Amino acid sequence: MGEDIWPRLAEYYEKTKDTPLVERFNQDKERFRHFSVPLDDMLLDYSKTSLDEASRELLLELAQTQGLEDKRDAMFKGERVNRTEDRAALHTALRNRSDEPVFVDNTDVMPCIHATLKRMAEFSDGIRNGTIAAYDGAAFTDVVNIGIGGSDLGPAMATRALSPYRDGPRMHFVSNVDGAEISDLLEQLNPKRTLFIIASKTFTTIETMTNAATAKEWLSAGIEENAAEYFAAVSTAFEKTTDFGIPPDRVFGFEDWVGGRYSVWGPIGLSLMIAIGPEQFVEFLEGGHEMDQHFRTAPLKENMPVMLGLIGIWHNNICGYESRAVLPYDQRLARLPAYLQQLDMESNGKTVALNGKVVERHTGPIVWGEPGTNGQHAFYQLLHQGSRIIPCEFLVAAQSHEDKLPQHHQLLLASCLAQSEALMRGRTGEEVAEKLIVTGPTGEELDLTAHKAFPGNRPSTTLIYRKLTPRTLGRIIALYEHRVFVEGAIWGINSFDQWGVELGKELAACLLPLIGTETGCEEKGGSTLGLLQTIARLRRE
Ligand code: F6P
Repeated sequence: MGEDIWPRLAEYYEKTKDTPLVERFNQDKERFRHFSVPLDDMLLDYSKTSLDEASRELLLELAQTQGLEDKRDAMFKGERVNRTEDRAALHTALRNRSDEPVFVDNTDVMPCIHATLKRMAEFSDGIRNGTIAAYDGAAFTDVVNIGIGGSDLGPAMATRALSPYRDGPRMHFVSNVDGAEISDLLEQLNPKRTLFIIASKTFTTIETMTNAATAKEWLSAGIEENAAEYFAAVSTAFEKTTDFGIPPDRVFGFEDWVGGRYSVWGPIGLSLMIAIGPEQFVEFLEGGHEMDQHFRTAPLKENMPVMLGLIGIWHNNICGYESRAVLPYDQRLARLPAYLQQLDMESNGKTVALNGKVVERHTGPIVWGEPGTNGQHAFYQLLHQGSRIIPCEFLVAAQSHEDKLPQHHQLLLASCLAQSEALMRGRTGEEVAEKLIVTGPTGEELDLTAHKAFPGNRPSTTLIYRKLTPRTLGRIIALYEHRVFVEGAIWGINSFDQWGVELGKELAACLLPLIGTETGCEEKGGSTLGLLQTIARLRRE
């Protein structure tokens, strides 16, 4: 299905790829309007890509023939779209702000979601106003979220993004099993005023459980009472949280139909809720829900997640670009690239389709990035003049929170717009023709023309929004979630499982007893054996 569209797209690209982007704007004075998607106070501009009317039509046809709309509706309806794990994927229910019921196996899950949200709000308020007191009777000053992957990246990214709204205790995140992270943090904390949230869907993840045990030991040494009293947990595994000693009224559950990387909207977002308060958290949910409604109802051509997904398909499968750079000109979105790496690469880094066959084309691209303007002084050289073309995804707010520093935001905006313009326009040799011949250190003449020229025609999109509020962040995250869904649906893969993370975990468990031992690891051949022996030798000497 849809197979004949791929070659048509490729053929069309071959025919049109040499048309400069600037020329496309010359041909269509309304190109910005024709190739952008407005949505309330947000706008996605993709006019600086090589898409035109015809290629867009082909991509939209591809989406239709791949059954995108049916697949989308099946997800929202709670069907078991995560077929390899036999589950629904209903993160959208966590942010459902309508009265519409959502059924899983004939049961409406909304009452349960609302009840959990209410419990989270009561707990958050208690921590924030001090009625749920710390060991010494005062309010908690610090909260530490211990979790990894989806149990860390979502709340950590969002808490940072929404720091202007933080009016609760200080929030910290520990994810790495490297003892350096927790040890550096604990040094700064007072055990009598610290609350730990153990966030783990499975409550078995080795990194999280190791950090949780260390935190419990540290707390036990700092207070005379049962340390587990100063823990809360977010998990689907109640018997395990009970074994850890966490009081049941401090355990917040969710269902297996919420994937880890899609879980910030529910109890995994508890740390975010404590930081910004339940009202702002609800604003964040409202934003996510608004994007859901848009995704479900807007015609495909005017649908922001659909168009962002199709641009991804165009760049990846038709133009052959291997990666995409996420470049927030918004320092508080510093963790967005890391968050999107899990969302995108764990969801769509697959080669086997839902029908069991190997996918015939590339799937998920490499996602990476850094906030502008720092990136400009690091890797943008390669973006502008490197041998690879990397589509750039800029994000920028029209307004900042720093009213007293207007000149900073003016510069930030100018820099963002300048970069996409420079990538598109480039600069030819003729344009840099003056002052090109210089005298080298040994008196020879050097012609710098080629060095100073920019090829241009490098594609980018810009997502512009009024201000990074909780509602806007909710819309941005939901936008990217659905973009990942759109791409996965077109490739026919399951974006909701993650079997690819298992093998390394299994091998680590086997290797653990061999670390530092001199003997017994001979059956490990080659490099692993060599490395094990080197570790043992370096520890011994
Ligand atoms: O290793 C991958 C993963 O399973 C992610 O999908 C998940 O977000 C993370 O580990 C953490 O899992 P848990 O919440 O069960 O600790």
